[in-house]
Amino acid sequence: MHEMQVVKIKKIIKETKRIKTFILDLDVSAIPGQFVMVWLPGVDEKPMSVSYTKGDLGITVLRLGDFTRRLFELSPGDMLGIRGPMGRGFKVYGDKLLLVGGGVGVAPLAPLAEEALAEGKEVTAIIGAITKSELLFVDRIEKAGGRVLISTDDGSAGKKGFTTDVLRELLEEETFDQCFTCGPEIMMAKVLDITREKKIPTQASLHRYFKCGIGICGQCVLDGIGLRVCKEGPTFRDKELRKSPEFGRYWRNAAGQKIYFGGKK
Ligand SMILES: Cc1cc2nc3c(=O)[nH]c(=O)nc-3n(C[C@H](O)[C@H](O)[C@H](O)COP(=O)(O)OP(=O)(O)OC[C@H]3O[C@@H](n4cnc5c(N)ncnc54)[C@H](O)[C@@H]3O)c2cc1C
Ligand code: FES
Repeated sequence: MHEMQVVKIKKIIKETKRIKTFILDLDVSAIPGQFVMVWLPGVDEKPMSVSYTKGDLGITVLRLGDFTRRLFELSPGDMLGIRGPMGRGFKVYGDKLLLVGGGVGVAPLAPLAEEALAEGKEVTAIIGAITKSELLFVDRIEKAGGRVLISTDDGSAGKKGFTTDVLRELLEEETFDQCFTCGPEIMMAKVLDITREKKIPTQASLHRYFKCGIGICGQCVLDGIGLRVCKEGPTFRDKELRKSPEFGRYWRNAAGQKIYFGGKK
């Protein structure tokens, strides 16, 4: 659905100090992992994962730069331009699912957990954040019946360290039919390395700088595999990502320049 719709913000939920959920007056169904393009007139248009996929659509946003700062100034009743839901969502098979989410990357994983649990699947979610107060959707996934394991960088909740530390420990004891991950790309690359060792098929949802969002401009093409994050993604299979020298290393800014994650080449 590429046409722009002007949509009212129904409700705003303050999830953490830096994360808000915007519930939109838009009753469409999305697949977890899909995204919408969000337009703020005079500011920009940016992709956001759908964090509430049934009934009124929701997006969950981390305040980062200019666009998200302006989004945070809005109130219920204000209007937004929305295109979508678009892109390839997560594909679920098997009964025992593992989710690994870092920071706002938990946004597309929470509806995936809810839908899978409602279908009788078993869901374990590893959720990480820099500190306890920035953990996202822990209660939501637990309320739906999922098991949640936590890591924080500063040790204020759960294991002190990263989601990947929890993942390594967990996979010493248990195995899963499938893993899904979203969060900082360096984290996702490590998740893929670990699940590869354990032969667990994994899908990852990528964040890239988008221009058109509909597969035309070529801005979001992944080097090495020629797939567009906005069209063939944003969710990709581990097998696809391993063939791209770009995954886990760099992204491209508006000028097409490579920006290396962590500043390292
Ligand atoms: C499919 C998809 C789904 C997304 N879902 C969400 C979501 O659910 N919630 C959410 O908060 N954001 C999401 N994003 C990211 C979002 O589109 C914006 O890029 C982000 O909110 C920053 O926008 P900004 O203008 O506020 O900050 P900007 O000014 O654009 O950026 C702030 C900082 O982030 C860095 N940055 C920008 N883009 C990237 C990138 N691709 N990789 C690494 N660093 C980058 C910039 O260099 C800068 O340092 C998603 C992106 C994609 C492609
Ligand atoms: S943003 Fe234009 S092709 Fe993906």
